[in-house]
Amino acid sequence: MTISISELKALAKNFHSDPKRSFSLPAKAYTDPDLLEFERKAIFHNNWQYVCHIETLRNPGDYISFDIQGQPIVAVRDKQGELRAFYNVCRHRGHELVQGNSKGNIKLFVCPYHAWGYNLDGTLRGARHSKTMENFQFEDYGMVPVQIEEFCSMVFVNLNPDAASLASQSGELANELKHYIPDLDTLTHAYRLTYHVKGNWKIVTDNFLECYHCPVSHKDLVTLIEMENYQVTTHGIYSSQIGPAGKSDNKAYNVDGASVQEHLLWWLWPNTGLSRYPGGPNWIIWNFIPVDADNTIETFDFFFPNSTPNEQQMEAIEYVDKVLQKEDIDIIESVHRGMKTPACEQGGRFVVTDGKHKGETEQGVHHFQSVYLNAINQYIQNQEQSTE
Ligand code: FES
Ligand SMILES: [Fe+2]
Repeated sequence: MTISISELKALAKNFHSDPKRSFSLPAKAYTDPDLLEFERKAIFHNNWQYVCHIETLRNPGDYISFDIQGQPIVAVRDKQGELRAFYNVCRHRGHELVQGNSKGNIKLFVCPYHAWGYNLDGTLRGARHSKTMENFQFEDYGMVPVQIEEFCSMVFVNLNPDAASLASQSGELANELKHYIPDLDTLTHAYRLTYHVKGNWKIVTDNFLECYHCPVSHKDLVTLIEMENYQVTTHGIYSSQIGPAGKSDNKAYNVDGASVQEHLLWWLWPNTGLSRYPGGPNWIIWNFIPVDADNTIETFDFFFPNSTPNEQQMEAIEYVDKVLQKEDIDIIESVHRGMKTPACEQGGRFVVTDGKHKGETEQGVHHFQSVYLNAINQYIQNQEQSTE
């Protein structure tokens, strides 16, 4: 089964550019398994996807292999120092060149099936008994490249060969990150939290993008953040939530001696979250990876100046893990069950606040859904043009 163009267009039926007049996405957007098949092509294979911190690919020969919604990819720094990415697939019979999700340092790619070898720039280096083939030119059988970009000490790939660079699409985001996280390049990976959430990836994202629920669902968090000065801002393909924080008498975790006294969150279309919590120097990258329409893997990668978390850093990680994430996952899974009922067929409304409650606005959720619907619309238009 595939989703029809008219079903896709119906997702935007009650959406309005003014959040105060708009309905949110209908339940079908969160529950239809055929929609995810479409989203894989139109969104995840068509937009910039986070891979790793640049430290993983700092030296020639460093590589990482991973999967972007069913597409095996390998990223590498070649011998000349250039970052490259390819489909992790041999041009002979299609075996994966690097097994599974792994990282390390290599001299060349050797296929485990019949041992064709590729240089780190993707060119074919050796193919056993290839002289027996007629009209076989090595230069025609290099690994198939994928776009790769270093952006603010993070590595992203894009499976659309015609996509504009992330730097050119993301406006002022790089300047904002450099301003608030000047030490990003020097921080190192120290911890990963992984969650299997029984909810659609867009419910995870909707929940990430508003703090209307914070005073109700995160009672400890709101003792750490000054909610009356929490600011939600939306721009192009990203949004931010920034507020003064780090009160030492809070109920969340110990922030004694905090050098970071703000709660900083960015969302980058389509499924990456970037954040810095009050406390010592830190950087957290969130990835929301759809498994199917009903399930999402969430990963949180923590970066600190040190590669093993100290006691105070561990206390903050445990607060995220045992309190904050538990609260959010319960919400997401409950909402997902709600989306499976006729009660949510229509989609809900958006609460857009200002003044002393401005931090509790759902403007960021409306912004995400508008970027989402635009992307679907754009993809349909491009498909229609290419078949004319
Ligand atoms: S599939 Fe790779 S060498 Fe045959
Ligand atoms: Fe939350």
